[in-house]
Amino acid sequence: MSSISERFVIHGGQRLHGTVNISGAKNAALGIIPAALLTDETCRIENIPDISDVKTMIRILEHIGATVERPEPGVLLINAANVRSDIPIQDDLTRRLRASYYLLGALLGRFGYAEVSMPGGCYFGIRPIDQHIKGFEALGATVTTEGAVIRAEAADLLGSSIYMDVVSVGATINLLLAAVRARGVTVIENAAREPHIVDLANFLNSMGADVRGAGTDVIKIHGVDKLHACCYSIIPDQIEAGTYMVAAAAAGGDVLVNNVIPKHLDSITGKLEECGIKVIENDESIRIMSDGSRPKAVRVKTMPHPGFPTDMQPQITTLLSVCKGTSSIVESVWDNRFKYVDQLRRMGANITVSGKLATVSGVSVLHGAPVDVDDLRAGAAMVIAGLMAEGTTVITNIKLVDRGYESLVEKLTALGADIRREQYEEE
Ligand code: EPZ
Repeated sequence: MSSISERFVIHGGQRLHGTVNISGAKNAALGIIPAALLTDETCRIENIPDISDVKTMIRILEHIGATVERPEPGVLLINAANVRSDIPIQDDLTRRLRASYYLLGALLGRFGYAEVSMPGGCYFGIRPIDQHIKGFEALGATVTTEGAVIRAEAADLLGSSIYMDVVSVGATINLLLAAVRARGVTVIENAAREPHIVDLANFLNSMGADVRGAGTDVIKIHGVDKLHACCYSIIPDQIEAGTYMVAAAAAGGDVLVNNVIPKHLDSITGKLEECGIKVIENDESIRIMSDGSRPKAVRVKTMPHPGFPTDMQPQITTLLSVCKGTSSIVESVWDNRFKYVDQLRRMGANITVSGKLATVSGVSVLHGAPVDVDDLRAGAAMVIAGLMAEGTTVITNIKLVDRGYESLVEKLTALGADIRREQYEEE
């Protein structure tokens, strides 16, 4: 049977020039939208990115009884007065979106009961949720699994001290969502420090929560009885911004990446400068200037924030595929995030992977080829590869890219790239 799919076609070699405006942060939106379930009053959330992961999250909220309106582009009004926690969330929704497990924290916090079937998302190795479960249990919940369904229930959520054995963005968010309504004080130690953790904490505080220390590795939450309506604007997307910074460095040109918080981009800025790329930081924008010459070889190691983000690893590796000399990239967050390297090899890259280490022997140029995408950031990397390659690159499975990049083709075209989206019949 055949079906209609979409692919990107890129004619490489065009320099990029102009300004690109960065959208709201995907991973902040995916925590903040379910946080609106914690009150029965209406929350107004602005700077929401128009991407498929957000649409899936909205469908999940509507499925359990929330009303979600979109009065203007980029704005959501969420009212969760009629939400119920005992409606099983359909597998096909949760399978599509890893962040669907934030419903566990939010519904547990609001109702003391939540059930969600196992989440999906991008696959880069085993993605355990033991730290989420350990945290819920520390708050007094009983967590059970039956087949693919996870249930968490607590007659009374009680504040507690929780030490996270690994730094986990998802577990930190889930515990924040539950703990804001627990009785007493919760302390999360070894918490994740990503900008979107701070954004979620700010959103919760604007609803009347008492969360302190977000952005450090110790977060203290004084539980409150009730949360209320609020109006909040989401931070710009750190990874979307980083992707355009690397794209400009890779294709060459002069690009102003606008509407960003430069501090969130320090690790990316630093690495690009080490590669020999000129980066100028302004208050709310970053300018990338590159004459298109090959980057210097560097060493990269992904780490939780403020380290170099794993979600930028495929993009920087792609830039380094044409470095002068030999670069090394250590992926220390995920077990299996180098699968895209096979696709880069098809374009002429010389990269060997051994466990969590990739060794890149820079080649002088990449050549366009048909390539496939198997996760969101690998997709962004293939787009960058296509922009810098000689000839034509055709990228399939781009629905994974649509999960996290708003108007990618339009934004790149405005910068002068030769990229189009086209439909084709897939066998
Ligand atoms: C978030 O995933 C992001 N997703 C990911 O971005 C990102 O790659 C990741 O954080 C790391 O920065 C969203 O925010 C929706 P983790 P998450 O829990 O929360 C281990 C993208 O491209 N771990 O911080 O699932 C885990 O195996 C996406 O936008 C446990 O051992 O990541 C991993 O090695 C893809 N037990 C490490 O911690 C747990 O209970 C970090 O995972 C939880 C995690």
